Amino acid sequence: MVNLAVTIGKLKLKNPVMVASGTFGPEYGELININFLGAYIAKTITLKARSGNPPPRLVETPSGMLNSIGLENGGLEDFIKNKLPKLKNIKIPIIASIAGIDADDFRKLALGLNRIKKIKALEINLSCPNVKHGKRDLLIAQDEEATHEAIQAVRKATGLTIIAKLSPNVTDIKKIAKAAECAGADAVSLINTLVGLAVDIDTKKPMLGNVTGGLSGPAIRPVALHMVREVYKNIKIPVIGIGGIMNYKDAIEFILCGASAIQVGTANFVNPKAGIEIIDGIKWYLIKNGMKNVKELTGALKT
Ligand SMILES: Cc1cc2nc3c(=O)[nH]c(=O)nc-3n(C[C@H](O)[C@H](O)[C@H](O)COP(=O)(O)O)c2cc1C
Repeated sequence: MVNLAVTIGKLKLKNPVMVASGTFGPEYGELININFLGAYIAKTITLKARSGNPPPRLVETPSGMLNSIGLENGGLEDFIKNKLPKLKNIKIPIIASIAGIDADDFRKLALGLNRIKKIKALEINLSCPNVKHGKRDLLIAQDEEATHEAIQAVRKATGLTIIAKLSPNVTDIKKIAKAAECAGADAVSLINTLVGLAVDIDTKKPMLGNVTGGLSGPAIRPVALHMVREVYKNIKIPVIGIGGIMNYKDAIEFILCGASAIQVGTANFVNPKAGIEIIDGIKWYLIKNGMKNVKELTGALKT
């Protein structure tokens, strides 16, 4: 028997595989047994409803895709009233994902979700590249001080496990991770998408209605692996790896680079069973390598 259980803050997961925010709706429950996964991360919500960006919002690119959904969502109350009931069959920990323009927004969202028993942790989306927040037209995750303020506000508002989701669109991601850790985050997750642009040479127009979008999929994996390793070496809280994980081998790469757990995003659009296959693959890899516990692999990269 191999042990796949991991702990992230107060969250006990039976395995380290989660589905990434915005890539996996509850309707996937008709195709796979979601309860095999380690945790379910819901799509990001904001305090008030947002209509998102103009279409087209998705375009396939080499080894990946660009999206510019723009955080379309019905807001906090809609999430509680209409979206959460749809998650009633999910028995694994449900992690809500929240985004705001400043610390006060995050505080209100955290307070609003505190009263919901079904929510076991909060992923703080500081990093959606399709939406500019607060200061100087930057993402919160591009500013150490703003990151610290946002996480501190959530920390004061809730005892739930806090995961700070970081952006790769920065000069030095270690500094932002450190700011999140110092402000009381229980873990960091990285990476969100990289800003990108695709052009239609016939119309001479951008392929996306928003001009730019967030690049995801295998194309970003080497960038994500490097950033996970950098962050892992510089902070003490767990790192959750995200970025182009398509199969168990990709997941193992992230774990070796320091991830305690991983999230599967774009792969869900290609293969809804990807997450479950990855769990089986990690088990198989551990057995093949004579290992008993997935934790033995975290950060075991030989350099
Ligand atoms: C269509 C789409 C929608 C997304 N929506 C969100 C979102 O609402 N909140 C968020 O934090 N990340 C969102 N993401 C980013 C993913 O959660 C993930 O960080 C990113 O896609 C990189 O992982 P991947 O390469 O495995 O997809 C979205 C990604 C895609 C492709």
